[in-house]
Amino acid sequence: MTFKQLQEEILELKRQNEVTILAHYYQPIEIQEIADYLGDSLGLSQTAKEKANTDYIIFAGVDFMAETASIINQNKHIMIPNYESYCPMASFLTPEKVKEFKDRYPGLPVVVYVNSTAAVKAESDVCCTSSNAVKIVEKISKEFNVQSVLFGPDANLADYTEQMSGIQCHKMPEEGHCYVHSQIKTEHLIDIQSQYPNAKILVHPECIREVREIADFVGSTSQMYNRVKNSTQDEKEFIIGTEEGLVERMAQDFKDKHFYLAKDKLICYNMKKHNLELIKYVLENLDDKAFEVRVPSEIANRAIKPIEKMLVFS
Ligand code: 13P
Ligand code: SF4
Repeated sequence: MTFKQLQEEILELKRQNEVTILAHYYQPIEIQEIADYLGDSLGLSQTAKEKANTDYIIFAGVDFMAETASIINQNKHIMIPNYESYCPMASFLTPEKVKEFKDRYPGLPVVVYVNSTAAVKAESDVCCTSSNAVKIVEKISKEFNVQSVLFGPDANLADYTEQMSGIQCHKMPEEGHCYVHSQIKTEHLIDIQSQYPNAKILVHPECIREVREIADFVGSTSQMYNRVKNSTQDEKEFIIGTEEGLVERMAQDFKDKHFYLAKDKLICYNMKKHNLELIKYVLENLDDKAFEVRVPSEIANRAIKPIEKMLVFS
């Protein structure tokens, strides 16, 4: 069966069953094409809570995104096509490590990037995404009346947030990183820019500091998308420092612009574990609990507070 046929069957099943499909920009393009909503981590959390008014939501993203949707929508069924789709960055931080940091720095608020397990979120004061980290750190430090916070698990986002807010972000841990974004080095950007000297460089805040510092724009996936959407007529070329799925989306949506991936093979293999066949299977078997995201209620009831606080602060 071709992608087109599978997509048509999925759209029909989705209509019959009243299911919403949410997808992240890093999803394979054929999944992005059948999604009701596409977005970054923050946008998808907000959509799951405010706009998706069906009982069943299929979440095509990594597990922490689907878990977050489940925690804030405990009356809905959040289904994930492949539960092996997880974010390796999350394993840099455990609840035990958070407790150790709290003991070492008593009184400091704990800010946890949503790319983390639900059990780690449960130990935090507030969550953040790449699009709101600066705002969240500014607000929580004001609330606690402090000039530093504990921040994890991404050390690059912590560094970026500290640079932008002027508030010290103690990294939990120093080595937390994304294996996709940390592949991008300055030499890649310099090399591509020598070929396309007029191109604007847009990168994700999970990139290392040296890369962020030579970029024209640093932002989440949605923020990069909107930067291109709102670009001027004479901004025709963009070098993109993030996962290739976003480049595929923008190449489809902005046909008069040209996009160059910062380096080859910027692929989040974990995001690519979903496929159309799995989505079709879930739609045909909505009562198959193997695909339903479940966060133990003891953890969900504690993790919901920092997630809700983030949504209020955003
Ligand atoms: P965004 O929130 O920018 O979409 O980022 C999610 C992510 O996992 C980046 O690697
Ligand atoms: Fe995690 Fe990096 Fe994949 Fe984002 S791109 S989901 S941070 S591994």
